[in-house]
Amino acid sequence: MRNKISARGTISFDDVGSGQPIVLLHAFPLSRVMWAPQLEAFQSSYRVIALDLRGFGGSVAFAETPSLDRMADDVADLLDELQIRERIVLGGLSMGGYVAFAFVRRHADRLRGLILADTKVEADNTEGKANRDRLIAFAAQHTGRDVLEQMLPKLVGPETMEQRPEVVESIRQIAASQTSAGIIGALRAMRDRPDSVPSLAAIAVPTLVMVGEQDALTPPSLAETLAARIRGAKLVRIAGSGHLANLEKPAEFNAAVRSFLVELKA
Ligand code: MLT
Repeated sequence: MRNKISARGTISFDDVGSGQPIVLLHAFPLSRVMWAPQLEAFQSSYRVIALDLRGFGGSVAFAETPSLDRMADDVADLLDELQIRERIVLGGLSMGGYVAFAFVRRHADRLRGLILADTKVEADNTEGKANRDRLIAFAAQHTGRDVLEQMLPKLVGPETMEQRPEVVESIRQIAASQTSAGIIGALRAMRDRPDSVPSLAAIAVPTLVMVGEQDALTPPSLAETLAARIRGAKLVRIAGSGHLANLEKPAEFNAAVRSFLVELKA
């Protein structure tokens, strides 16, 4: 069903289809709406749950110190509420990937497989943290759409920017619905996130790493190191895509996910 809200009233989510559960975690500063092409593609064969991370879409903002751990625990709490006891395939893009690493640290026994798209495992360095602080100050005075405009040149690839204005516009629309409080909470959580490199050795499930070849935020070199550090991980590069590969090249993105899921079943 579309547009549900968790029993505690904290997390909004879509829950469509039936079969092996796949849970999708969105990028910053977007919401679960970005997964529309994947809900469409996979709901006939799988149960697909796309949720709004804390502070985004219809989910409540952080009441306590913002953390990716809290976001990961929200995912586990939602699985409990939905009585999903079988192991899930967890997919995260960029910030969603950071939350997936937190989930690996805290709830690894609930995983059947991992999809890590356009993300990185390293914590922010000093310059990265200073950039977060600058964007926090900006977000306090501006809208979600303004924040998006600051990021846009790096968020989508040149091909999408030139040839697919409707995709860029839909990304703008999603960001425009996000609140300053949600955006600032996520920036603080990302700024303060730990290095997840030590957790990678513990990943014992099949893992698909994906990256847009024109990703300027988490470039292919980072995806290569990430895939090399996870036992048996498969790396797929998406040609002609920037950072938001699931939206920029949905057919190619979905084809890679589909063949990963089929191999998981085998
Ligand atoms: C995202 O796409 O989620 C962000 O670019 C992640 C980040 O700012 O580190």
